[in-house]
Amino acid sequence: MDSVSVPGRVNLIGEHIDYHSLAVLPMAIGRAIRVCFRARPDGAIRVASAGAYGVREFQWTAGLTPAAAGDWENYLRAAAEAVGRKWGVGAGIEASVESDLPSAAGLSSSSALLVAIALCLLRANGIAASFEELMEILPDGEQFVGTRGGGMDHAAVLASRQGCASLIEFDPLSVRPIAIPADWAFLVAHSLEHAEKSGGLRAEYNARRTAGASALEKLGLGSYRKVDNPLALARRLDAGLERDSFLHVATEARRVREAAAALERGDAAQFGSLLSDSHASLRDRLRVSCAALDRLVEAAMESGAMGARLTGAGFGGCIVAFCRTAELPALESGLITRYYQDRPGFVREDHLIRADASPGALAGSSVPTGLS
Ligand code: GLA
Repeated sequence: MDSVSVPGRVNLIGEHIDYHSLAVLPMAIGRAIRVCFRARPDGAIRVASAGAYGVREFQWTAGLTPAAAGDWENYLRAAAEAVGRKWGVGAGIEASVESDLPSAAGLSSSSALLVAIALCLLRANGIAASFEELMEILPDGEQFVGTRGGGMDHAAVLASRQGCASLIEFDPLSVRPIAIPADWAFLVAHSLEHAEKSGGLRAEYNARRTAGASALEKLGLGSYRKVDNPLALARRLDAGLERDSFLHVATEARRVREAAAALERGDAAQFGSLLSDSHASLRDRLRVSCAALDRLVEAAMESGAMGARLTGAGFGGCIVAFCRTAELPALESGLITRYYQDRPGFVREDHLIRADASPGALAGSSVPTGLS
């Protein structure tokens, strides 16, 4: 038996902009999906989940079609289809999956599963794919599941480095590790509202992407990187989601640059305030927050966080709160008193996660990662 481990990720800042090819700043975390597998010469892909998700099996052929909407088999099929399109259909796998990464939480468990299965199929067929090749097939592969996402998750879970955030650029693709100061800490807190990427969230997510793209088109610009004065440009758009999405995307891109610079010079106050500004923009302009996420962000700030924001696609899932390492216990207990105490279903180890910047799946492998 061989095995592959792919971590989850938390996005520190740069939300809903990767699909406009703008830089983002996530990091991989110390929770992962682990897949043990062996090659199957008959071309079948059979994957058993250690949790409640059961077993899925299908024949790996060219031109796979999706399984029932919302079924996790779609991530297996998406991985097989993506690998098959580039390298051809090969040997299947017999695999078992275990995970300590909560699902539907904005921590990228679905992309981690897709990446893990793709890596298993490649390894089972003796193919050494580079980071660039993987990035060519994986983000598009996920569109098979219906979400027209960007490449942030795949890049972060593949190429992150221990102790570092990853400044990911898409055009051209590069990943620059930026060390996180030892006294900075990140806490991921679940709102207890589930954000199922393959469910209703899909249409909402895709609508934001379309609104941001059509705003750009109306302004006659080919790229958000050409936007220098967002407020002046936005006046040329009608009021509504399109204009607000445009303003979110353009200002968030600037916040990512400023946050990367603040991280590099260890400016915690500035970094924290950019995180909070990002949340306000996601709430008021892009409108991807919800009452639970807003309350959780507030509770984090009341409990001593230096900044907090929803992380991932939004509409539920998690927030990321930033504080000094010494303040972490107070932040955790503050969130329990202010947020979780009266809410049923809270399980500390699943819903309050200290996020330690961890290596991505390719770290330590001989495969070139495209790190600059
Ligand atoms: C999801 C997508 C990512 C990204 C985020 C929002 O997690 O998979 O590509 O677009 O939403 O920033």
